[in-house]
Amino acid sequence: MIKTYNKEQLDYVREGGKILAQALSILKDSVKPGISTMELDKIAEDFIRAQGAEPAFMGYNGYKHTICASVNEEAIHGIPRTDKILKEGDIISVDCGVKWKGFCTDAARTIAVGKISDEAHKLIDATEQSFFQAIKGLKAMSKVGDIGTRIENYIKGNTNFSIIEKFCGHGIGEEVHQEPRIINYVPKVKINLHTDLRKRLPAGCVIAIEPMINVGTKDVKVGDDGWTVVTGDGKLSAHYENTVIVLEGCVEVVTL
Ligand code: MF3
Ligand code: CO
Repeated sequence: MIKTYNKEQLDYVREGGKILAQALSILKDSVKPGISTMELDKIAEDFIRAQGAEPAFMGYNGYKHTICASVNEEAIHGIPRTDKILKEGDIISVDCGVKWKGFCTDAARTIAVGKISDEAHKLIDATEQSFFQAIKGLKAMSKVGDIGTRIENYIKGNTNFSIIEKFCGHGIGEEVHQEPRIINYVPKVKINLHTDLRKRLPAGCVIAIEPMINVGTKDVKVGDDGWTVVTGDGKLSAHYENTVIVLEGCVEVVTL
């Protein structure tokens, strides 16, 4: 079942989203050559706790941190490390979650470290653009599958990049991951996982839309630490995510 929330609950989602947007903005300003991903994690945790909120990822499946920090060929779920030091030309995907008054919000940005290649720029822009294409015209009673269709149409129509298929967006609320599963592409074969695609989004539901886009192959694998997801060919990957409230006639992005 796709859960829906009342006005008061959605206001908590909005407030949490604002804290998360501010945290991401502070992280963006903090990203520079020489900083470690663990330092970024500490900056995010301190800020979120200072607002009276909690890091939403901490404790999730035993996860011990506030952010996921994934550098270059690392696509998602990079674990913050004191010995992972950013350098000029890197790109870093920072994914963060906030829990405020019992409600979770989830958002991610890929950030340039100093001057980056044209290709890296294109990748970051296209990933962000695919999100905004996905929410264009989205509203209550839209089909879940419309989101992946729009993301795929944009990426295929405008780039030679590929869409990661092994991970997806999701409903969000009291938990970080709830129904429905929101894939970012159009499946070529019918399998069980895709039954959510025909479901319609009810007014008052909250979802996290999160395209993950690779320069090269769409294939990814989980690294030796059991968490970090890296591209199959070692080429760059970008991630862009926001928490979105579905309303009658429109959607509201709460983490911008
Ligand atoms: N941000 C991820 C998502 O978008 C969840 C993070 S998994 C965690 O779904 F373990 F790091 F929390
Ligand atoms: Co998410």
